[in-house]
Amino acid sequence: DAGTAEKGGYPHFMLKEIHEEPDAVRRCISPRIRDGKIELNIPGLPNETLAKTERIHIVACGTAMHAGLVGRYAIEALARVPVEVDIASEFRYRNPVLGKNDLVVLISQSGETADTLAALRLAKGRGIRTLAIVNVPGSSIAREADDVLYTWAGPEIAVASTKAYLVQLSVLYLLAVKLGSLHGELSTEKEQQLCSDLLEMPAKIQEAIDGEPDVLACAEELKNAQHVFFIGRGVDYTLCMESSLKLKEVSYIHCEAYAAGELKHGTISLIENGTPVIAVATQPSLYPKTVSNLEEVKARGADVMLVCDKDAKVEPDLTKNLLRVPNVDNILAPMVTIVPLQLLAYHIAVLRGCDVDKPRNLAKSVTVE
Ligand code: G6P
Repeated sequence: DAGTAEKGGYPHFMLKEIHEEPDAVRRCISPRIRDGKIELNIPGLPNETLAKTERIHIVACGTAMHAGLVGRYAIEALARVPVEVDIASEFRYRNPVLGKNDLVVLISQSGETADTLAALRLAKGRGIRTLAIVNVPGSSIAREADDVLYTWAGPEIAVASTKAYLVQLSVLYLLAVKLGSLHGELSTEKEQQLCSDLLEMPAKIQEAIDGEPDVLACAEELKNAQHVFFIGRGVDYTLCMESSLKLKEVSYIHCEAYAAGELKHGTISLIENGTPVIAVATQPSLYPKTVSNLEEVKARGADVMLVCDKDAKVEPDLTKNLLRVPNVDNILAPMVTIVPLQLLAYHIAVLRGCDVDKPRNLAKSVTVE
């Protein structure tokens, strides 16, 4: 029927858009890499200005803010430039300290989110340089910001954002590598290596999508859950926040993301027999610690699931459910790891009979403050 044709043969836009991720990421990344170097072509932000940037403030809402949290890890790790991430509606009320060599980065799929637009105007009003990372061409945030990096993902229709998050990450990684080389933190070889890794991401994301049958099996097990907890450390914690948002948005299951190390200060009191806990552990240096947190909740009766890369050594009786993601450079792991977690949210919502593309009470773009 016409509806299905519009969805490219998929039953829902959300699933279609997840399947579009490899292409969207390719379109976003490949024109910006030439001969092992990043070319961002931002007129108002020449290399000399980027090299002098002392601090970055990322401001956004919802999924775009979660992309910003990954961006903070990447920029701080690769460029050693301090980054703060704010929820747009909170940014203005804390009277942020902004320095003249700072850069305020606004991230928005629609480019119309009222709180993000208000944050942009605040920064501009203070005379601070603004850069927007936006998907919709010619949108308000794109027009008003000093400079724009478009994410070029094409239209995103499903209310729950999926491919837009992937391209937001793509742009943030490009920016992180660029800043890293301009701030003297990356050798030419390392920059070239990261560029070639970035160019390989579409294939790796496709490999993650190909794991969909395993995700479906996990969705079957989780579909009747009343609460789901996500735990992770470092950048994996930010993925937990995004996965938890995705799952609760579309399936109406109550979800919480907790920093794995903080578990004993809170959420562990909520673990009972059969409570599902999903651990995300993609960073080798943090892996053993997250696994030990998983064992703690398992000892209290939790039904545990682990998301980790193909090489991670997993004790055979540690988890009931295991999702493996393709091996990539540690810093880029979020780009492949989020994919099965988006698919998990989608399939659980479908199994529960939810209106996946239009969850109750939510809007694709929120134009009121
Ligand atoms: C709404 C949408 C979210 C989105 C957020 C920010 O809440 O439902 O999916 O992440 O707005 O939207 P933006 O267009 O600014 O990225």
